[in-house]
This record gives sequence, structure tokens and C-alpha cells, in this order.
Amino acid sequence: MSTPAPRVLEVAVPPRDLGYSVHVGEGVLARVGAEVTRDRQPRRAAIVSDHNVLPLYGPVVRRSLEAAGLAVVEHAVPPGEASKRPEVLVALLGALVDEGLGRRDVVVALGGGVVGDLGGLVAALLMRGVDLVQCPTSLVAQVDASVGGKVAVDLPGGKNLLGTFWFPRAVLVDTSVLRTLPDVELACGLAEMLKHGALFSAEHFEQVVEGAASLAARDPAVLPGLVATSVALKAACVARDPLELSDGGGGRVLLNLGHTVGHAIEAASGYAVRHGEAVALGLRAAARLSEARGLCPPGLEARMVAALAALRLPIELDAWLEGERAEALARAMAHDKKRAAGSITYIALAAIGQPCTLRLSPDEILDLLRGRAPR
Ligand SMILES: NC(=O)c1ccc[n+]([C@@H]2O[C@H](COP(=O)([O-])OP(=O)(O)OC[C@H]3O[C@@H](n4cnc5c(N)ncnc54)[C@H](O)[C@@H]3O)[C@@H](O)[C@H]2O)c1
Ligand SMILES: [Zn+2]
Repeated sequence: MSTPAPRVLEVAVPPRDLGYSVHVGEGVLARVGAEVTRDRQPRRAAIVSDHNVLPLYGPVVRRSLEAAGLAVVEHAVPPGEASKRPEVLVALLGALVDEGLGRRDVVVALGGGVVGDLGGLVAALLMRGVDLVQCPTSLVAQVDASVGGKVAVDLPGGKNLLGTFWFPRAVLVDTSVLRTLPDVELACGLAEMLKHGALFSAEHFEQVVEGAASLAARDPAVLPGLVATSVALKAACVARDPLELSDGGGGRVLLNLGHTVGHAIEAASGYAVRHGEAVALGLRAAARLSEARGLCPPGLEARMVAALAALRLPIELDAWLEGERAEALARAMAHDKKRAAGSITYIALAAIGQPCTLRLSPDEILDLLRGRAPR
């Protein structure tokens, strides 16, 4: 008697609309209560924040949530990347369960990218997922981390290795909070804004550079508009490839512009160089490499350097291309390459606003940056 062939049953999973609104403006944090109760009625909200941000902006968020009828609990973690750890994640989950947070309640992540990534993962995991509202308070979080749904904590083996996609219900980008953000942190966000312009809009690139002084002064007549444009450019990219499944075209991989060399500098410095500062050097690298490969007309690197300098971002790339630092850089890129299953998709520029992708090895990248023909 022959064994019957296995039966294959198809389980349909109808797509859900996971779209969300991003509100950008001065004072929008006061709307958080209205947003979380827009089309549902949670009973409780958990604000996840850090010790710098909670004392500054916890009260306005709490008042707004309470005015909308919610009971509020607050948790603050120590500021900094070290809080993006599984231990901190599990402790938060345990605390929220003890406090009686339910399946229909909401997590409000109030802080920089660390809090957004950590609080977002808390929301994704608590009882298989509860609603999340992102209230980003650093410029990096406002123009980058809070939009796109990536949430994660770090593992000893690397950054963001324990994570998932969990799309927020809403994102509230209150540009008035940037007044208390330290200047070096603001500059890190400007590097990501410049990246969005370099990838998708020469006009945005120029507006960010021309607006440097107004941005540094947190001018309310300039800041919300430029932040909103930068968010819109990133949002359009992630909407084309929400789960980062495509390896080219207009997909999320393009957002790695400046990040191949940038990540490697961050890692090689033992994370002494801030992410945004490393990305600034990575943007210069991408411009230089694009010129070296003849992908763009000469002058792109000079234009990028002028832009970075106007935004008071670092431009000293060459110090990373010789000696021990270069070796550490090559090792860090080789590590990323291994993780990406053997090849690096390097994002280059045919012009400001026109990205293109290359496959390159770490040695080829370093040779091109040093002005040598690849071996
Ligand atoms: N999920 C994503 O798509 C994505 C994208 C980019 C970065 N990230 C992650 O974001 C993190 C970096 O984010 P970050 O640069 O915001 O770092 P961060 O969260 O550590 O914030 C930087 C510092 O600024 C303080 N701060 C934040 N807002 C403030 C305010 N309004 N006033 C005063 N101080 C304020 C914080 O307490 C912290 O000390 C990294 O972990 C990175 O992996 C994630
Ligand atoms: Zn970045």
C-alpha cells in the first residue's frame, strides 16, 4: 500500500492596513491623548522614556493622556545605547504586566532612538503586541528612527540583532522639544536629513545646508518644515519596501547611504564616534567613491564636504584610511559583509538626489577611497 501524498492546506492571511500618520509641528505632543483615543478606547497608557527626557516632557504627555481618560504609568531607563539590552526589555515587560497593562492598552515611547527602539519592541512583544505611539524627541529619532517600524535591542554579538517590525499607530514629532537637545545630538540628526536629501531630493539637500544657521537656532519658522520634508522622504522610501525585502531599486537598502563606512567607523572607534558623526564621514566616503568610480561628475565630494562643514559635522575621513584605523575599518566592514551573506550593497550617488547601488568588497571600498585602483 502506498503512502498517501502529504496534503498541503493553504492558510490565508489577509493583509492588514498598517499605515499610520506622522504629525510634525511645534507643540504636537499635547495631542497624544487625542491620537491614542482616535478610533479606540484604551484604559491605560505606559510611557517608556529615559531619565533625561521624562522630567522634561513626561508631564505634558501624561496630562494629555489623562485628559483623554487614560490611567498612566511611567518608566524611565538610563539614557544611552546600554539601555537597548534584552535585560532592560524583559524588566520593562515584567513591570507592565505587574501594573495590569492589557491587550488593548498602549505604549507611548517618549525619547530618542534608544527609547523608540526599546519601547517599540516592548509594544511588539507585550501579549503578542499592543498599540504603540512614537513620540520622538531627538532629531535622529524624529527624522529617522520613529518612522519605518523597525524596533530592536542589541545583543552581545551586535546592534539591533533582537528585533522586529512593529508599526506605530501614530508618530508625534514635536519640534519644540529640540530646544533642549544638546547641539551634538542635533548635528547627528542633521546628518540623516542630509542623507535623505542626497538620496531623494537635491532641493532638500540644499535647503538643509542653507538652513544650517536657522536649524542650529531651532528657529520655529524653519525647523518644522524641514523636519517634515525629511520625514516625508524617508516615509516614501519605506512605503515602497516596508519590510526591507528588496535588495535594490528604490527599496529601504538605499537608506544605507553613508552607513557602510559609517557603521564601520562607529564600530572601529569602539562607539566613541557617534552614529550621526560616523554617517557624516560615510556620506563623504560615498561621494568620493562615486567620483572615483566615475559614476558622477567631479565635484560631488567637494559639495558634500561643504554641506557637512556648514552643519558642523566631521569631515576628517582620511584619518580612517591608513594604518591601524584602516585595518579596524576593514575588519568592521568584513564583519558586516559576513552578516549580509557575503556581499556589501554599497550605495553610491550618480548625483545629489540620484542613488545607485554597487557590489563591493571591503578592500575595494578602501582602495577606491584611498584613490588607488582596486587590486
Ligand atoms: N529604528 C530605526 O529605524 C532607527 C534608525 C536610526 C537610529 N536608530 C537607533 O536610535 C538610537 C540612536 O538614537 P538617538 O541618537 O536619538 O540616541 P538617544 O536615544 O541615546 O538620544 C540621544 C541623547 O539625547 C537625549 N535626548 C533625547 N531627546 C532629548 C531632548 N528633547 N532634550 C534633551 N535631551 C534629549 C537622550 O536622553 C540621550 O542622552 C540607536 O540605538 C540607533 O540604533 C534606530
Ligand atoms: Zn543612521
